[in-house]
Amino acid sequence: MEYFTLNDGNRIPAVGSGTNSFGKEGGFAGVFTGSTKEMLSCIEAGYRLFDTAESYGNEAVIGNAVRESGVSRGEFFLETKMKIRSRGDEPWPVLGRKETEAAIQRSLEKLGTDYIDIYLMHHPANTPEELRAVWTTLEEYHGNGVLRSIGVCNFSAEDLDQLLGFCRIRPVINQIRINPETPNSAIAEHCRKNGIIPMAWSPLNFTAHRSELEDIAEKYGVSWSKLLLNYNWRNGIISIPKSHSAEHQRDNIDVFGFSISDDDMAAIGSLYDLSAPERV
Ligand SMILES: NC(=O)c1ccc[n+]([C@@H]2O[C@H](COP(=O)([O-])OP(=O)(O)OC[C@H]3O[C@@H](n4cnc5c(N)ncnc54)[C@H](OP(=O)(O)O)[C@@H]3O)[C@@H](O)[C@H]2O)c1
Repeated sequence: MEYFTLNDGNRIPAVGSGTNSFGKEGGFAGVFTGSTKEMLSCIEAGYRLFDTAESYGNEAVIGNAVRESGVSRGEFFLETKMKIRSRGDEPWPVLGRKETEAAIQRSLEKLGTDYIDIYLMHHPANTPEELRAVWTTLEEYHGNGVLRSIGVCNFSAEDLDQLLGFCRIRPVINQIRINPETPNSAIAEHCRKNGIIPMAWSPLNFTAHRSELEDIAEKYGVSWSKLLLNYNWRNGIISIPKSHSAEHQRDNIDVFGFSISDDDMAAIGSLYDLSAPERV
């Protein structure tokens, strides 16, 4: 496994696993089964970074699998997210310190752990006051060791600037959608300039340019998905692919054993649709 060093000094695997449909039948919004089978096959394949969220409803599945696996808690990087009202949601009260503490507590209980490796705001705050109240509470829980690292998701460059304008502790990552159909490259660049690592959600969930990617991948004797996950790593991006297939899980973590030439890095980069609107 390759690692990145976060701006707070903690190290993180360059590839982890998404989990938003784990412990369910029928996808993200499917029927909850509580099964740990996908988690256990990931752990057996070598994954240690897992991305979940309170809104996925499966934090207990992640925690149960960690304990069932027999691998020590200290080897894992458990990442979860606090629900923030996202665009399109029904209005709900602006979150403050009390709600943030309660959300952290709920995640700790569901995961069955006394610390969380990375805790993220799932969406940008709805008001500057909400941002300040939530973030300063996260800073406090980072200070007392309950949240080892803190970060954000789906933040635009403007959202990040607002946070960077007052925070004591900078977010370590911004988890955004990054793939050839939604490159979000200006946001990723803004993250890098500020020492924040972009983390790609849905890195493999797109259909464009498969055949061009396959042609380049063939030169290295790998699949298009391995090519892309290696490309992300070379570009300083953490990826969290998700698969229900044990074979794909093994493929998606074994992505570092080849070196893409500079010409092919440029060729892959040219497949990213830079005219696509920034979409977080
Ligand atoms: N912060 C946010 O707002 C946000 C939003 C969305 C997602 N996320 C996180 O990001 C994670 C990843 O996104 P995602 O779930 O869309 O995952 P993804 O890995 O980008 O795409 C999943 C799809 O790719 C397929 N796949 C995986 N590996 C493959 C391989 N090696 N070859 C061919 N197909 C492959 C899967 O099918 P198989 O199961 O058949 O392999 C599945 O259909 C989520 O699980 C969640 O944790 C965060």
